[in-house]
This record gives sequence, structure tokens and C-alpha cells, in this order.
Amino acid sequence: MNAALSARRAGADLTTMVERGLAACELDPELLAIGLGSLPNADGVMELDASIMDGSDLNAGAVCAVQGLCPVISLARAVMEKTPHVMLSGDQARRFGISLGMEPMNLMTAANIAKYDEWKRGEADKFYVHTAEESHDTVTMLALEDLGKPHLIAASATSGLAWKQPGRVGDSPIIGAGIYADDEIGAAGATGLGEELWKASASFRTTRNMEAGMSALEACEETIRHMMRRQPESLTLPCVVFALRKDGDFGAATTKGEFPLWISRNEQVEYREYPALVL
Ligand code: GLY
Ligand code: GLY
Repeated sequence: MNAALSARRAGADLTTMVERGLAACELDPELLAIGLGSLPNADGVMELDASIMDGSDLNAGAVCAVQGLCPVISLARAVMEKTPHVMLSGDQARRFGISLGMEPMNLMTAANIAKYDEWKRGEADKFYVHTAEESHDTVTMLALEDLGKPHLIAASATSGLAWKQPGRVGDSPIIGAGIYADDEIGAAGATGLGEELWKASASFRTTRNMEAGMSALEACEETIRHMMRRQPESLTLPCVVFALRKDGDFGAATTKGEFPLWISRNEQVEYREYPALVL
């Protein structure tokens, strides 16, 4: 958040502001959720996913299962701006990043190697989630400016579920699942159990709910209640959607736990927790 706000103060446009915010999270080795120093796949290898969507023209870019490059949010932005495509995957995404001047890097740190070794020593019950605290595996940002007409950007970056099957990709780089933005309506983003959020097309569904006239909170709650009713697996780990309408109204909902949301409006940063819905 601070990196995004300081970029904005220095004159960054909305896309750059969001990219800088997520890149700072990815490059922070202390943050277990995403990027450098987060939790690797079952082979002990980091595979990163990211996406970004521009609500003005519905252009979008994403990368998935990228090894050895960081921040991948910048790579997703490059796919959006420098190619006619929406997604590049795996080693070819990595090659594209290197062709743009990104430096290959080792994303494992002493701390995450130790955590991987601990998992390998037989804590099989902890296959996906190391602790409840570490279960928030993704950082997603929604941004709105109104310079005469509303403009929205949505973006997300993740290392995916800890100890995932190599090659597994979740919701975060999938447009409509992990993020969605449309200047005519609003934007939505997701975090949590990617398989379930993807099956629900969670971000697109939430955006369509707002288009149908719901508040941001109602839109999120409809999506999450639908998941709780139709997708029992969505109750096993937190599944979260949050949304920002083009008029600034916002909200969030989760299937489990409490979702921490930081909101910044005109330089004021506010923190809210959204408790799990009850069916
Ligand atoms: N519809 C197939 C593709 O565009 O890859
Ligand atoms: N929400 C991130 C993932 O499931 O990979």
C-alpha cells in the first residue's frame, strides 16, 4: 500500500501505481504470501502467477507458473501492453521477461527453504496451508480514480497455494476469476482457494452483480453465498471476493475466517475486517 501511495504522489498513473504496490509486496522477502521468500510448490520451486486488467478498454495481461523471475506483476503488465495476447505461461513467459531485461533470480530464501524442509519431513496434514495466518496467499489490488469519468484497474500476484502440485495454476492470473475491471461498472478481486474461486468465476460474477444494481457488499455476498451453497469445498479454506464500484462504494465477503482489507482514500488508510458469512 505504501509503495503504491508513494508512486501515486510521485505522479504515477493508476496502472503504474498498482504495479508498484504489488511489486513491492513480491520483492519483500518477509512477506510469505507472494514473490520472493514465499512458500514453494511440492518440488520446493517457486512458481508465480499474476494478472492486471484495465477497465477502460478491458485490456488485460497475465502470466502463470513462472519460475525464477520477480516481480511477475510487471511481466503481466508487459503481456498486456506489449503483446496482442492475454496470458503467457511457464518457461516461455520467463523467456519473454528476460527478453525485456528482467534478471533471473533465486526466489528461495533461508527461511522458506527451512519451511519447505519442515513440510517435507512429514507434516502431510499441512499439504496446502502452513498455518491459518499464512493462508492468505495472494495480494490483490483494486484502484479507482475519477478525473471526470471513473477509471478502474484490478491486479493480483501470488505464489499460489503452498506445496501445490508443480504446474498447478489458481484463480489469480485468470481474468474473471482472480480479477475483473470495467470502467462502466466497477472492479472485483479474489484471494483464497483458487480452484473454487475459479469455478465460480468469482470476480466476473461479482462485477455482474454490481451491474445488476447491487452495492459492492451485496455483490460480494451474493457470490460467496452462492459458492457456500454450491461448492462445499469453498468452506475448507477462505474464499474471498472484494469489490469497488465506479462510485467508490466497496465491500468484501469470505467463506471462512476474517478477511483483512486495507482501503486508502485521499491519503487516509483505513483497515477493515470482514467476518465469514453464515449460510
Ligand atoms: N480459442 C483458442 C485460443 O485462442 O487459444
Ligand atoms: N488464490 C491463489 C491461488 O489459489 O493460487
